[in-house]
Amino acid sequence: MGADDVLLEIEDLRTHFLMDDGVIAAVDGVDLRVRRGETLAIVGESGCGKSVMARSILRLVDRPGRIEGGRITLHRDGGPVELVGAPSRLLREIRWRDIAMVFQEPMASLSLVHTIGSQIVEAVRLHENVGKAAARRRAIEMLDRVGIPMPQRRVDSYPFELSGGMRQRAMIAMALSCRPSLLIADEPTTALDVTTQAQILELLRDLQDEFGMAIMLITHDLGVAAQVADTMAVMYLGRVVEYGTAEQVLGEPRHPYAQALLRSMPRLGRAARTRLTAIKGMVPPPYARPAGCAFHPRCDRVVAGRCDVAEPRLIPVSEPAGDREVSCLLYEEDK
Ligand SMILES: Nc1ncnc2c1ncn2[C@@H]1O[C@H](COP(=O)(O)OP(=O)(O)O)[C@@H](O)[C@H]1O
Ligand SMILES: [Mg+2]
Repeated sequence: MGADDVLLEIEDLRTHFLMDDGVIAAVDGVDLRVRRGETLAIVGESGCGKSVMARSILRLVDRPGRIEGGRITLHRDGGPVELVGAPSRLLREIRWRDIAMVFQEPMASLSLVHTIGSQIVEAVRLHENVGKAAARRRAIEMLDRVGIPMPQRRVDSYPFELSGGMRQRAMIAMALSCRPSLLIADEPTTALDVTTQAQILELLRDLQDEFGMAIMLITHDLGVAAQVADTMAVMYLGRVVEYGTAEQVLGEPRHPYAQALLRSMPRLGRAARTRLTAIKGMVPPPYARPAGCAFHPRCDRVVAGRCDVAEPRLIPVSEPAGDREVSCLLYEEDK
């Protein structure tokens, strides 16, 4: 894949929360790109900045969060647009139309006082010049497409009348109703039981084939990532520490954090008797980013006097095919 395939490019993104007792650097220099039509999984332990990174793209970060720097470039048909610092009017245009988002809890983004259908109709009509009847037909078609039974009836349901799995399907129908080129799904299946989770993941895969959109799938669950991802980015304390194809990252992780994360995960086709090992230590409190490599206090390959001093950069490591990047001093040695 060439550079032409890049749909979204994030460079040195920093989103901080200015609290009374200090600064939480939730996102602290993320470099990442999403290619057209691919599924990119963002993985990492809870609290490493996945959601804040994703919400920064559409500028949905809660107060007192603020984008402190960096660039987010969306390559639209009409040409590239820079999203950090773009006027709100432009962001509203891009939201749903180019980039749509679904969250863990669909109730957070669905209105409680409007029917599912009226919300989809509104989203469609905000972005496209179509009449009410046509938009309603689109809503029914989308509800049908995401596997909601009796869509002609369900279109007039309120969100609370649906089960968790059906609500998530409705949310996906709404997100895709304007045919975005990127769907950001933040832990879309985390609140669901295992069976429903598998169904929703399969649905996303089918819809991706059909609509040709890219998906940024955020999950703390490597098993979920393994099921759907083409490429993967591993985040730790507000930065991407490893990036590559899912096969590379899952099959042969390079960063000690990615290696530890994999060892801590069950059900990735490992021999059943292999012991799971927890990652040593805890994610440090968000106010205090450790000096040098932020992972060094927990790293089993730490080199004293080096990893606690120098900051690693996310740099390409040589692989026979494709691009792969790791941010670890162990791989900077011979550069
Ligand atoms: N509204 C907020 N106010 C203050 N801190 C926040 C807020 N939202 C997130 N954070 C902090 O930002 C960091 C990253 O959070 P988040 O992106 O939600 O992590 P993840 O999605 O990877 O679990 C955490 O330390 C979290 O406590
Ligand atoms: Mg999150």
